[in-house]
Amino acid sequence: MYHSTFTQWIIKNKRIFVRADLNVTLNDTIITNEFRLKSILPTIDFILKQEGSIVLATHIGRPIHKESNFSTKILLPWFEKHGYSLIFIPDISTISTMKVTPRQIILLENLRFFPGEKNGDPLFAKQLASTADYYINDAFGTIHRSDCSTSLLPYEFSENKRSIGFLIEKELRALNKLKDNPSHPFIAIIGGGKVEDKIPLLHNLLKNIDALLLCPAICFSFLKSLGHETGQSLVNNSTLSLCKKIILEAEQRNVSLQFPLDYQVTHNSINEKLSIVSAAQFSHNLIGISIGPKTVEYFSKEINNAKTILFNCAMGFSDRPETRQSAKDIIDAMTKSSAETVVAGGDSIDIALSTKNYRSISHLSSGGGAALAYLSDIPLPGLAPFEEY
Ligand code: 3PG
Repeated sequence: MYHSTFTQWIIKNKRIFVRADLNVTLNDTIITNEFRLKSILPTIDFILKQEGSIVLATHIGRPIHKESNFSTKILLPWFEKHGYSLIFIPDISTISTMKVTPRQIILLENLRFFPGEKNGDPLFAKQLASTADYYINDAFGTIHRSDCSTSLLPYEFSENKRSIGFLIEKELRALNKLKDNPSHPFIAIIGGGKVEDKIPLLHNLLKNIDALLLCPAICFSFLKSLGHETGQSLVNNSTLSLCKKIILEAEQRNVSLQFPLDYQVTHNSINEKLSIVSAAQFSHNLIGISIGPKTVEYFSKEINNAKTILFNCAMGFSDRPETRQSAKDIIDAMTKSSAETVVAGGDSIDIALSTKNYRSISHLSSGGGAALAYLSDIPLPGLAPFEEY
C-alpha cells in the first residue's frame, strides 16, 4: 500500500519539488478542462500552509519543438485567477541559488521541453533535484510513464524526503475499492477506441466483475471475433483472437457479457447523418458510433441493480455533441445510483463533467491511462520509488 508521508515533514522555509500532471485539455492555449488543476490544489495548499515553498513541475502535451502553446506559461492566468501567484523560471540552473521565500511557487517550463525528461537522463534528474529539499509525486496521470521526473528524480531524495501527494493517495484508495473486495454486483461499462490497450484491463477485471457491458467502438472487435456483421465500424483485426479469449474467460468465470441492443450509426463516413438501428439490422455500410436508446434503457437497469460500477466508455466525438448523448445518459444513470461509481479516462471524464450531477459520482479519476494500468495490475514506474512505505 502507498501512503503520503509528507504531512510529517518539517517544511517551513524548505523547498518542495512537486511533480504534478497539469497536462490539461487545450483548445490552442485556452484551458477547456480545469479538472487536473483543481485536483492538485490540496497538496499545494498543505505545503503553503506549512510555510514551505514549491517548485512546481509538469509536462503538457507531447511537444516536439518546444511549441509555445505547450509552454507551462499558459497555466499562469488560471493560478492567478484562483489566488496563487507563481513565478515562471525557465532556467532550472538558477533556482538552487535563489533565496527561498516561504509560500513561493516557482513554476518550471514544460518538462518535455528538456530532452532528459523522456530520455531518462540521470544528469537531468540531478539538475531537477538540486532545486529542492524534498520531493512529492502527485502526477497520478503520469505514474504509468517512466519519465525522468517520476521514475529517476525521486531516488535523488532519501526515502524520508520523498512521498506521494494527496491526489495519488486518493486515486489509489478509490481504485483499490474496485480491486480489493468490491461490493457485488460489480459491472464494468467499457467502450471507446484502442481495444488493444483494453485487453489487459478486461482480463484483470473479469476476476472481480459480475457483468461486462461492451460498447462502441471496442465492442465491434469482439462482435467480429464472433462472426457478426460490424460494417465499416472501427475493428482491430489483430486483436480478434485475444477478444475470443476474453469471451471464453468471461464464460468460464460466469461473467455476463453484454452487447448493445441497438446502435447510433452513420452510413459510409463518420460525418454523415446519424440514425438508429437494432443490432440485428447492422449492415455492411454502417459505422457504429454509439449505443441507441434501447441499450441506454437496458444498461440503466443494470446500473440500478449494481453496487459497484466502473465506466471507461467515451463513445462519440466531442465536436458532435449528439454522438455523446448516450454516454451522458449512462453517466446520468450512474449519478442516480447508490453504488460505488468510478469514471476513468480523459474523454470519459470530459463527458462526466458535462452532466448536471457529476458530483454524485464517487470517484472521477484524473488519470486515464494511469487508472487503467493500475486496474490492469501493470507495474507503474511512477509508484515504484514509494513501495513498502
Ligand atoms: C495523460 O494525459 O494521459 C498523461 O498526462 C500522460 O501523458 P502522455 O500520454 O503524453 O504520456
